[in-house]
Amino acid sequence: MTISTNKAKTVTEAVNTRSTARAYLDKPVPQDILDELFETARRTPSGGNLQPWNVHVLTGEALNGFRAEVIGKLMQGKTEGDTYPAYPSPLWEPMRTWRHKLGEDMYALLGIPRDDKPARMMQVGQNFNFFGAPVGILVTIDKRMDAPQFIDIGIYLQTVMLLAREQGLHTAPQGAWRAFPDTVKKHTSHPDAQQILVGMSMGYADPDKPVNDLRSDRAELSELVNFHT
Ligand SMILES: Cc1cc2nc3c(=O)[nH]c(=O)nc-3n(C[C@H](O)[C@H](O)[C@H](O)COP(=O)(O)O)c2cc1C
Repeated sequence: MTISTNKAKTVTEAVNTRSTARAYLDKPVPQDILDELFETARRTPSGGNLQPWNVHVLTGEALNGFRAEVIGKLMQGKTEGDTYPAYPSPLWEPMRTWRHKLGEDMYALLGIPRDDKPARMMQVGQNFNFFGAPVGILVTIDKRMDAPQFIDIGIYLQTVMLLAREQGLHTAPQGAWRAFPDTVKKHTSHPDAQQILVGMSMGYADPDKPVNDLRSDRAELSELVNFHT
């Protein structure tokens, strides 16, 4: 399914046309669009109105300097130790299968076979180029915060992702950035009390890149939602 580059007109359309975009056009996002989007996203609700998100939006030289340093470290085989593990380990069913299927569907679209580990690693490495997006977002959180505030930040991310669709933009939420807490700190100057929780690529999705055709599966409604009447 080809990724929609239209501007979403309704919330339903924004939800239905949002997908994780992993290839972007080399086209900057005007600053006034970013200003409006992040201004509106301030309305995100949070428990106790704590607003626990600290948001760093990188563009231009700041973005290029940051990703160049991260990619340089990756080339030397250096990472910095994840701030939080991405998933429980070991992962159980059915989540284990869902995760596996996502990867297989993505590599199939890219024509990368199972045994081509270097090509698969190169694709994973695209995370650290923000998939070529012109906007890189890093969200840091105070280390004293816990699960309820992680929910708040998830809501914030979705608010940003849906507002992006209204502007014809696409996004990729990225836990991958937890692998570079030191470089994130260096480039954002966030306080010692905080650490990286999640990042996000944002820009105009490239509709000609097969990776953006990925329409990830979802469980059936009856598997996820119980209506008690
Ligand atoms: C909090 C969060 C972190 C994610 N981290 C990554 C990531 O590091 N790299 C990546 O390629 N996708 C990442 N994703 C994208 C998920 O794989 C994707 O949302 C999921 O497979 C559903 O697909 P869709 O977003 O295209 O609907 C992340 C998504 C979320 C919500």
